[in-house]
Amino acid sequence: MIRNNQPLLKVHDLVVDYPTDEGNVRAVDHVSLELPNGEVLGVVGESGCGKSTLGFSLLRLLKGGIIRKGEIIFNGQDLGKLSEEKMQRLRGSEISMIFQASQNALNPLLKVENHFIDTLKKHNRWSEDSWNDVLRLLNRLEISKSRLADYPFLFSGGMQQRIVIALALLLHPKLIIADEPTTALDVLVQARTLKLFKELIEDFNLTVILITHDLGIVAEITQRVAIMYAGQLLEVGDTFTIFEKPAHPYTQALIAAIPNVKDETKKKLAHIPGLPPDLRNTPKGCRFADRCLYAIDICKSENPEFVTLASKNKIEHIVKCFKYDDRYNIRFR
Ligand SMILES: Nc1ncnc2c1ncn2[C@@H]1O[C@H](COP(=O)(O)OP(=O)(O)OP(=O)(O)O)[C@@H](O)[C@H]1O
Ligand SMILES: [Mg+2]
Repeated sequence: MIRNNQPLLKVHDLVVDYPTDEGNVRAVDHVSLELPNGEVLGVVGESGCGKSTLGFSLLRLLKGGIIRKGEIIFNGQDLGKLSEEKMQRLRGSEISMIFQASQNALNPLLKVENHFIDTLKKHNRWSEDSWNDVLRLLNRLEISKSRLADYPFLFSGGMQQRIVIALALLLHPKLIIADEPTTALDVLVQARTLKLFKELIEDFNLTVILITHDLGIVAEITQRVAIMYAGQLLEVGDTFTIFEKPAHPYTQALIAAIPNVKDETKKKLAHIPGLPPDLRNTPKGCRFADRCLYAIDICKSENPEFVTLASKNKIEHIVKCFKYDDRYNIRFR
């Protein structure tokens, strides 16, 4: 794995809001993270916790949302300061996103081959060599050349998803944001698609942010996991540690509910009693306190800072919980 000193992506103190008539929804709430070259990061959390919003904000593709605060440094550039024109050039060629429910991303009126040709032309990369690249990539994703003149609706959901993955990889972007890339597919097709995606990640040494509900997928293809809850990260660490020694009570509850991560039937996020807070009106203290088995007074009145627990494979294990804060840990059961 190639590693240089500078992370490929550095997100610092990102805050993203959706102003609505019913109040301001804070979907990303002071999130910071770093992603080195060649690493696969899983972003995990319940529905509505802000995973897709985080992904969209990295590409400045928020619909109805505003980045209130924070910096996104990608490959040394501050994306917040780039012109929209430069951002457009960067999307697809340097950072690409596989959208949630992305089969819809294919244009029903455009033959599959034209999706590839248009993308190459848009980025001035159209040539005979690049077309050979397309054919090689599609071959890797098990899409036959003979089908390229067909329209998307003639393909199965799994094939459409593989076409979307091929489009995302086409220009060899440095970073791929994959938002639930296989969720819409049935279990067998999901497994096959994921296997092909994983092979491409390894062969091309891709840097990936994988957004998912599915801890089985996380265990299989990520090196690092960020646990997201109500717009905030609660815990980040290397994948092995997150599964073997989860520190945050929320992560512990998620992991405890999976007796065997490889068990297809048990890999979805567990149900934890209670609901996450309303993002229009989040509590002052820890976002998880109301559902936490260990919460003490301070958890409800103050928002904890991150505590560093250990490092493994150069990946810090950090947790946002008073239980690990030397000032308070004695008071926990
Ligand atoms: N355009 C919008 N206007 C107002 N609120 C929004 C908008 N888009 C998202 N939200 C709210 O922002 C929060 C985060 O949404 P987001 O789609 O990022 O969550 P998610 O973690 O990706 O969820 P899921 O797992 O269901 O895809 C949710 O509470 C959602 O209702
Ligand atoms: Mg989402």
